[in-house]
Amino acid sequence: MSGKNDGRESWGSNFGFLMAAIGSAVGLGNLWGFPYKMGANGGFAFFILYLVLVVFAGYILVMTELALGRATGKSIIPAYRSATDGKGTFIGIFSTVAPFLILGFYCYLGGYALKYAIANLGDIFHASWGVGGADGADFFTALFTNRGESRVYTILFILVTVLIVSRGVSSGIEKFNKIAMPGLFILLVIVVIRSCTLPGAGAGIAFMFKPDWSAFAGKGIISVLASAGGQMFFSISIGMGIMVTYGSYMKKDDDIAKSGLIIPLADTVIAILAGLAIMPAVFAFGMEPSAGPGLLFMTLQNVFNSMGAAGPVFGTLFYILVCIAALTSSMSLLEAIIASFVDKALDKGQGNKRKMYCWIAGVLTMITGASVAMDGLGTYLPPMFGRFCWLDGYDLLAEGILMPIAALLTVLYFGWIKKDFLQAEIKTSSTFKTEKFYTFCLKFVAPIFCFFVLLGQIDSFFGLGWF
Ligand code: PHE
Repeated sequence: MSGKNDGRESWGSNFGFLMAAIGSAVGLGNLWGFPYKMGANGGFAFFILYLVLVVFAGYILVMTELALGRATGKSIIPAYRSATDGKGTFIGIFSTVAPFLILGFYCYLGGYALKYAIANLGDIFHASWGVGGADGADFFTALFTNRGESRVYTILFILVTVLIVSRGVSSGIEKFNKIAMPGLFILLVIVVIRSCTLPGAGAGIAFMFKPDWSAFAGKGIISVLASAGGQMFFSISIGMGIMVTYGSYMKKDDDIAKSGLIIPLADTVIAILAGLAIMPAVFAFGMEPSAGPGLLFMTLQNVFNSMGAAGPVFGTLFYILVCIAALTSSMSLLEAIIASFVDKALDKGQGNKRKMYCWIAGVLTMITGASVAMDGLGTYLPPMFGRFCWLDGYDLLAEGILMPIAALLTVLYFGWIKKDFLQAEIKTSSTFKTEKFYTFCLKFVAPIFCFFVLLGQIDSFFGLGWF
């Protein structure tokens, strides 16, 4: 490898980079994971703990990945290969396989958000293709048991992702995020205002924020920590080489220490706003909060059904918002998968093969995504590993195993073996006042955190009841 990446792309501006990185972080995890977990695990008490984790672990992990990317100027596999003198190439491979496993089911879910946006739009015009007041649970069941339609929406979502990413880092990903992320923010604020001004909204706000310190009592603190840790890990897109890849496109004078803080904080602000958009409305209409697809695709559809004439309008806005959140994340997943191959071709002097690799990865993702659609959330195919629906099976491999292992090995390596490598990189463009804090957390806090997330994920997937 010559190491000279002639023609390698970079971000057009720091703002564009931040929008892309925040776009990757803000996704389904913020919308259907955070608000419920916060409400169910101590409310404001959970939030305080989450903020502590953001500062002691999120900040450290994001900075570590960004610095690794920029120091090597390479994407995941070559970045790990060059920083570890070949010994850690496998970490790069883990970090490439994980986003691939996630992308298929992520686009399946994104495809459903698209279907809901279209159906709510249909309701505005009283069209036959609208939800038509159908119960949320019935509408969702009809969709996931219709495997043909599920595949069509999954593939459509993958196609949109491929079309944007294949245009390039700056003219595809960055350009889209620069418009979409501020758009998402505005949509979110509109929905928050509607939701929080509904009669009875207070109960939802209380559900999310009422501090319940007793959640921390005894063994409780460990289960709250496991829940908050796993949530943050997925939510800031760590352990999948995404921040390594995005960092490799940063300019040498972009401040990594600052970005490392802005990205997880912005992600947290959006998660709180998502909660304020969702929970007050759920409670105002007397529904039960939940987490996951049930909240997004059943409960909330019922909320929009109950809102009268304004329902379809807010439903359309809300599901467009979900589509944007999912799309800016799926774009980052695809970029992380293909970037190493694009770099390799550039290094070999074969020119920019981005389009080709995007399509190859896109077609392969259509296979994994279609398999999830064919499974119909565990209705049709034999369970993966004998016990999981296919969506959960892919998720277990990626989020439960590969991601935490990759992150754990990364912090151990740069905390204990190749010391000062990342700090030196961060210092080239920042005064890095937090260097001592960073080094301490990288050595001690981040490894314990990653190990703990690994245990927590295995525990929750297999229902072992450790925590
Ligand atoms: N962070 C995204 C979310 O909150 C999911 C994601 C994870 C995206 C990892 C990319 C990589 O939904």
